[in-house]
Amino acid sequence: MVNDKLQNSNIRPVETILVIDDSPTNLEVLYTTLADAGYEVLVEMDSLEGIEQAKNNPPDLILLDIMMPKVNGFEACSKLQSNPVTKDIPIIFMTALSDTVEKVKGFQMGAVDYITKPFQQEEVIARINVQLKLRRLNLELDQQKQKLEERVAERTAELSEALEELQKTQLQLVQTEKISSLGQMVAGVAHEVNNPIGFISTNLYHASQYARDLINLLQLYRQKFPQPGTEIEEIIEAVDLDHISQDLPKLISSMKLGSDRIRGIMQSMRTYSRADGKEKKAVDIHEGIETTLMILQHRLKPQTFRPAIHVVKEYGNLPLIECYPGQLNQVFMNLIANAIDAIDESVQDKNWEGDKSKIDKYLTPENVLTVPLICICTTADKENVTIQIGDNGKGMDLSVRDQIFQAFYTTKPEGKGTGLGLSISYHIITEKHGGTLECITSPGKGTEFIIQLPFYTKSN
Ligand SMILES: Nc1ncnc2c1ncn2[C@@H]1O[C@H](COP(=O)(O)OP(=O)(O)OP(=O)(O)O)[C@@H](O)[C@H]1O
Ligand SMILES: [Mg+2]
Repeated sequence: MVNDKLQNSNIRPVETILVIDDSPTNLEVLYTTLADAGYEVLVEMDSLEGIEQAKNNPPDLILLDIMMPKVNGFEACSKLQSNPVTKDIPIIFMTALSDTVEKVKGFQMGAVDYITKPFQQEEVIARINVQLKLRRLNLELDQQKQKLEERVAERTAELSEALEELQKTQLQLVQTEKISSLGQMVAGVAHEVNNPIGFISTNLYHASQYARDLINLLQLYRQKFPQPGTEIEEIIEAVDLDHISQDLPKLISSMKLGSDRIRGIMQSMRTYSRADGKEKKAVDIHEGIETTLMILQHRLKPQTFRPAIHVVKEYGNLPLIECYPGQLNQVFMNLIANAIDAIDESVQDKNWEGDKSKIDKYLTPENVLTVPLICICTTADKENVTIQIGDNGKGMDLSVRDQIFQAFYTTKPEGKGTGLGLSISYHIITEKHGGTLECITSPGKGTEFIIQLPFYTKSN
């Protein structure tokens, strides 16, 4: 503060000069000359005490006599220069007019100048002024350099922050783009499959009528003409007409069941792809979960390294939820895909046994860890719906768990994970929907994510 004021008003603080000389006469002359010129003057007759003085109270400049008892000027100079506190203080040697060799040695030792005895007062002042001015300029330069370095560091930090932000936005765009192109692909497939499945189910209806009519007619024939002749009887036996008559209607009705299922899947695919996320809609959360599971079906199937992942669902009675359905689907997709990854990654540590036929046996609480499982559970109270998505995969230790919602945090190999799934999901649940997303996990045992969403809904 004081320094600022002095700088602003161009008034310099009084500069201090330390004179070290064993001759009282010299000291007296120099003291008077320098004090008259406005400097604060400290004097020492002993070089070691002079060095101490310089350390304890560093002056702006030192006048140092060369010829002194005990420690001479050169030795004192090298001691001053080897101490970090005093090494930058300019030193002017004092020497007799004829000592050219000593002058040279003085410069080699790091002195900035010399003054010759007997002293010419004006010369002494002029030389001191020049050195002090140089020192001031050097100090200013150092300050400027430091300020500049600080600014460069600040700017670099700002730039790298901006770069990180940019990369984050880019990757978020890629994720959103990925989800929306998935939506488009789903819509395209649904559209393409829609017509052929339409023919099949309409024609199956007629086919079942025709089959029934033909079978009735055949039975009537057999009643009216019980002895059609050997040739026909042989064929009836060969094709097992009784079996055909019984089986054909069953066969057609199971084909109808299959085509109805495909139509159902196509319907939910269309719902999924229409969930564009631009405006809030009241939707059935279960539909979003089901479609997500359907899209991830291929990953749930048995793999060479593990049996199929069994999905246990406990769906509560939920009202329609006002939300951005496309975004919530993105959250379900991220959480369920992570659960599948965690199960796949636990293959080395776990001995998955069993297949679907044994599932019920394994679903007892003690054995629950021997079959790969994803549990999805939904409940509603007066204000919120809760969606729990749990897996019995590899789980996480605390150091991982504490970072999972950070953008770019991933434990997956490069190219497999971007580390954005959970940070985007967290953003969608908390900021877009005013909900909460929590994670409970334990290494080797599994992980559960709990989503809570408030609902502002119309009832069903
Ligand atoms: N169900 C889970 N079980 C164990 N670890 C999990 C689970 N879900 C997330 N994690 C850990 O959290 C990390 C971050 O998950 P996140 O979904 O954000 O990124 P990612 O899956 O690695 O990559 P991506 O951006 O492709 O989703 C994962 O790398 C994983 O270590
Ligand atoms: Mg993920």
